Amino acid sequence: MASRGNFSNRIGFIAAAAGSAVGLGNIWRFPYETGENGGAAFLLIYLICMVLIGFPVMVGEISIGRHTQLNAFGAYKKLGGQKWGLLGYWGILSAIMFLSVYNVIAGWAFAYFIQIIGGLLAHTKDFGSHFTNQIADVSDLFFYSLGFMAITAFIVSRGIQKGIETASKVLMPALFIMLLGLIGYSFTLPNAMDGVQYYLVPELSEITVKTVYDALGQAFFSLSLGMAALVTYGSYISKNENIVSSAALVTITDTAVAFLAGLLIFPMVFSQGLSPSEGPGLVFVVLPGIFASLGLMGPIIGALFFLLLCFAALTSTISLLEIPVTFLVDEKKFSRTKVVLGTALLVFLIGIPSMLSQGAVDFFSNFLFYEGKTKAVLDIVFDIFSDVGLPLGGFLMTIFIISKWKMKNFNQELATGNPTYMGSFMQKYLNFILTYFAPAFLGIMFVLTILKKFFDISFF
Ligand code: PFF
Repeated sequence: MASRGNFSNRIGFIAAAAGSAVGLGNIWRFPYETGENGGAAFLLIYLICMVLIGFPVMVGEISIGRHTQLNAFGAYKKLGGQKWGLLGYWGILSAIMFLSVYNVIAGWAFAYFIQIIGGLLAHTKDFGSHFTNQIADVSDLFFYSLGFMAITAFIVSRGIQKGIETASKVLMPALFIMLLGLIGYSFTLPNAMDGVQYYLVPELSEITVKTVYDALGQAFFSLSLGMAALVTYGSYISKNENIVSSAALVTITDTAVAFLAGLLIFPMVFSQGLSPSEGPGLVFVVLPGIFASLGLMGPIIGALFFLLLCFAALTSTISLLEIPVTFLVDEKKFSRTKVVLGTALLVFLIGIPSMLSQGAVDFFSNFLFYEGKTKAVLDIVFDIFSDVGLPLGGFLMTIFIISKWKMKNFNQELATGNPTYMGSFMQKYLNFILTYFAPAFLGIMFVLTILKKFFDISFF
């Protein structure tokens, strides 16, 4: 299968998979979820979800991809027949829909970056209304989102090694350096330690069922689980690699970046006496206001922050685009360049109603009513394909492993490239979680989420 391409080695795969995991989810979503859910209490539950669910599900996805060396649909069909192929299709559809909105938000970050370096935010006083106007102004955003998609498509068109792996190996270290530099700066601000305390000292009384829903959803979003992104990337690694240790490194990197993003943002928010529960506007409203108050350093710190956000988003959008691209190249034997162009354009067009749903067009902005509020198309797509869809994808994958592929074959795949795996504690741990804990927990959470979200029924 030489023509499919491959990651050159373990580091290449880890950089790309960690690049997929580290994204808007870590730097935009994690801090506002934490801020809305009581700070350290959320962080604690989130960490538990990463260990008990996130990491084992990631190992499951990678092993299915590596075993079959096929795209999401091809992999499930090969091991489970036509019916299980539907789970692959679900992953591909989710990736397309998810990317269509993710790219809109990446466009916001790109817009802020360009505006800051162009000095366009220098005289802004009210960042709340700037944000509201900005996301409604599609004449502008159209081009930022299109630009972001074009950069994504360019990288993916260059292939697994020359495109995705090379970009990830440059962007990921750059991201780490910027992040550490910004944290160093944020710690020098007055009252920074109040933010650190809010973030690190848990109030256990804050933990509710909502904390658990949100933490689980965040773990899936952040680790890129539930839509076969890692089945796809896993299909490009060699049989000599150790899947368990690679997945562990990806999980640790992703968790570390989310953790560090919190360490960057909460001291900044508290230094200005602002509220951390600002919601999705946290990094777009609160932070620019803070940057504006930093004098000469403001534009530099601001530009670096939004560049960081763009880099993080880019290594994720490339992994999302790769899911349908691998499918079309594998199954239909189309040329990569043509597939990339066609898919990127299609995804961009699908994203337009979401882009228009942030105030530009009333019909899309107030599209449906549930969970006690009107929902914009962008929220609905995230609700279906992220909050509900990703844990569902993870749940079905565990059922697939237990009932169709079988634990024995799963274990054998993991032992390939990892001679000490059989009989190890890790084997027992993964087998227990994937056979009992994950399906039970994810199944229950799925039902509770649907009841709560769409029927306003909650039991706790
Ligand atoms: N993990 C990415 C983030 O945290 O922003 C989002 C993502 C990428 C989710 C790829 C799913 C995926 F397949």
